[in-house]
This record gives sequence, structure tokens and C-alpha cells, in this order.
Amino acid sequence: MAASWNPDSWRSKPILQVPEYPDATVLRDVEAKLATFPPLVFAGEARELKRSLATIANGHGFLLQGGDCAESFAEHRADNIRDFFRVFLQMAVVLTYAGGSPVTKVGRIAGQFAKPRSSPNEKKGDVELPSYRGDIINGSEFTSEARIPDPQRQIEAYRQSAATLNLIRAFATGGYADLERVHQWNMGFVKDSPQGHRYQVLADRIAETMSFMRACGITSDNTPQLRATTFYTSHEALLLGFEQALTRTDSTSGEWYATSGHMIWIGDRTRQPDHAHVEYCRGIRNPIGLKCGPSIEPDGLLKLLDILSPRNEPGRMTLICRFGHDKVEKHLPKLIRAVEKSGRSVVWSCDPMHGNTISAVSGFKTRPFDRILKEVEAFFDVHRAEGTHAGGIHVEMTGQNVTECTGGAAAISEMELSDRYHTHCDPRLNADQSLELAFLVAERMKLERDARAAPKAVAATA
Ligand code: PEP
Ligand code: CO
Repeated sequence: MAASWNPDSWRSKPILQVPEYPDATVLRDVEAKLATFPPLVFAGEARELKRSLATIANGHGFLLQGGDCAESFAEHRADNIRDFFRVFLQMAVVLTYAGGSPVTKVGRIAGQFAKPRSSPNEKKGDVELPSYRGDIINGSEFTSEARIPDPQRQIEAYRQSAATLNLIRAFATGGYADLERVHQWNMGFVKDSPQGHRYQVLADRIAETMSFMRACGITSDNTPQLRATTFYTSHEALLLGFEQALTRTDSTSGEWYATSGHMIWIGDRTRQPDHAHVEYCRGIRNPIGLKCGPSIEPDGLLKLLDILSPRNEPGRMTLICRFGHDKVEKHLPKLIRAVEKSGRSVVWSCDPMHGNTISAVSGFKTRPFDRILKEVEAFFDVHRAEGTHAGGIHVEMTGQNVTECTGGAAAISEMELSDRYHTHCDPRLNADQSLELAFLVAERMKLERDARAAPKAVAATA
């Protein structure tokens, strides 16, 4: 039987990626204060997300998860949130149409602040300082003061998450997400994109469908589903003191939920089965994401699924695979086979970002768009071969016109990276690259639909 669990039982386990706060008393006071603050999300919403994910785990629908690598205090502005949300909705519409099934929308937003780092220190010239760990922990400026972990930042992160979520909830239900508007934005993108002709057919078919619906009298005035959307939040549950403070019992079920976001995930660096992050996540009832990089082996994965999802509840686990564009075939099939053989229910999602980070000659960290696309393609190929459902994508993206990833239709070169390189951590797809990816994934989803429909068509004509 599993050992008993409490919101603080992680504290007795080994832990990686923890900041060293200089004053434990201040930290405790901040955590105590956070524990009195209202939850950011409701348990009922997390359960609803789990139901959507369960449908995907059963082979229908698609998960779109995306947002900043790291949210920042300095860029907390309404226009940034709006621009992200707009592009995200545009992507979702394209994917919904192509897949012919619902897209579950989950942002890396309203809580995505804490970052795991490959090295505890950062060196510039002769100066070595503690690494930046995300705005919830310390500052990104390269000074020794900024790099000291400051507990008060957790209060600011909570405030920012609440304000962001408030605006997104308003956008999602207040008319901004109207399908007709989102479609018009997509038509604008197709018109302006250098590769627009490639996406024209799909965009035109959506336009036709919309005008057919209008002709039938189905409009956003009389159909709330066309006017509003459901959007969920997610982040990496890395800073466990913060997570613990926002862990609450749900009054309807009596179970524990993380109320810092609807879905939380465990990063590739902190998924040791006997360590603190897994311990924390096993006790809460939210949907859980697990990053799966090249070092995860089938046995290790099954062990983690036993710990994190002992009831094997569909929708509980999303496996976010991030191997690198040339490593998918090597790693994914054996994981899929092990999971299938053991009868485990999971959503398979593809993070084509974190295995494809390279250093440009100029020193900027970047990700070539064609490698990102290649990883997604390989992910679909493997699922096709294994007969399993390619259930989602997980991307780092922004609604701004940044130059952080190379390539795409606008062919951003390594030389151009310095023009608008704004990320606080990893390079993100810009607005156009995000939409391009959605259109290209849509082409692929359409192929999958046709392939599924083909045997039936043959049978029908036989
Ligand atoms: C991330 O998603 O920003 C991240 C750090 O990912 P991973 O744990 O997969 O490296
Ligand atoms: Co990242």
C-alpha cells in the first residue's frame, strides 16, 4: 500500500532544483500568507479538464498546450496576454477543423514562472553567479543582488497569475473568442504569410463551413459555443512550497487539489520516483503532465505511472514527449508499447521544443523551425505505426513578433535573432511561426483522419 500523503510529505524526500533562500523565516511567513489567499482555480474545473483529457486518452480530440517558457513580471501587460490568447485561439480553430474533433486548450500561463536549470551557476567572463530560476524565485539581471532568491516574489507571482487569469476568463467568455472573429484573423494570416497559398485551401473550407452554418441560422448570437471557449491553465510544479500553500481540499469530494492551475506537470529533470516532485504530485487529483526526455526507460515510466496514477484514471496522465527531432523513433515506440501492454491510459503529447535547442554562432539559444516540425511529424509517424493516438502538442510560443526560433515562412536567420530576442528563458515560436505550425499539424491531422476513414470507405464499396 502507498505511504500516507500530505501536502507537505514532499518535504521529507530528496529534492532537486530548489533555490537556496537566505532567510528561512521570511520564506515560511510568505508561504503561510499564500496559504490564506483564495485558490486561483476550482477543483471542479480541474475535473472538467480531466474529463476532456480522458476523451483524448480514449483516442478522440487533441490537446493544444502552449505559452511562454517563463512568464515575466516585466512583461505583464494586457496586450501581451491578449496577443497570446488570440494566436492560441487561431491555432485551436485550425486544429479543431482539421481533426474534426474538439481541441482542449491549455495555456502555459497564469503560473508558469519557476524554471529548472541545467547548471546551478551561470558564468560570464570571470564572473560566476547563481543561475536565474524564474521570476518567482530571483531576477534575470546578471548581478549578485538580483540572483538572490527572494520569497516576496512568490506573492507577486500569485498576484500576476490572478490578474492574468481574470483577463483570460473575460476574453474566453466575453466575446473576444467569437469563432467568426478568430476565423477572420486566420484569413488575415493566410493572406499575409509568404507561405499563405499552402494554407488557403484549409482556410477557405473553414470559411465555407461558417457561411453554411450562418445560412442555417447558427450564429454566435444564438449559439454560445461559437461565442465563448473553455481555456485552462498549466505550469511546471517546480517550486513546491508555493504549490503546497495553494493545495486545498475540495469541499465536494474531500480530495486534495493544486489550485495554482488546472493542470501541472513534472519536468524532465525532477521526475525521480522517490523524490519530492513526484511525491507532491501523486497526492493531488488534478490532471498531471510528465515530461519524457531521452533518459526515460519503459520500466521507469511504468513505475512513475504506478505511483502517479494508481487508479489508472483516463485523463489523469499526459505524457509530454520531448526527445529531439532525430530521437523520436529511437525512444517513443518502446514507451508506447510498454504503456499499451500494461493497459495504462495516457494522453500522448509532443513537445517539439525542448529536445531541439541549439546555440547559434552568435551565442543565442535558438530552435530551428524545421526541426520542431520534424519532431511533430516523427511523433505522428510513430503513433500511426503503433496504432495509437497522437493526442496533442506542447509548445513554447508568444503572440509577439519576436525573433527567437530560426526558420519558418519568414525564414528568420541566425543573424536576425538579435533583432527581437525577448524571452526570459527558452526561445519561443513567434505569432506567425505558431500559426504556421498549427496549419502544418492540421495537414497531418487531416491525413490521419483520411487514413482512419479509408478502411471503412473500402468496406462500404465492397
Ligand atoms: C519547460 O517545459 O520549460 C522545461 C524546462 O521542460 P523540460 O522539463 O522538458 O526540460
Ligand atoms: Co522551456
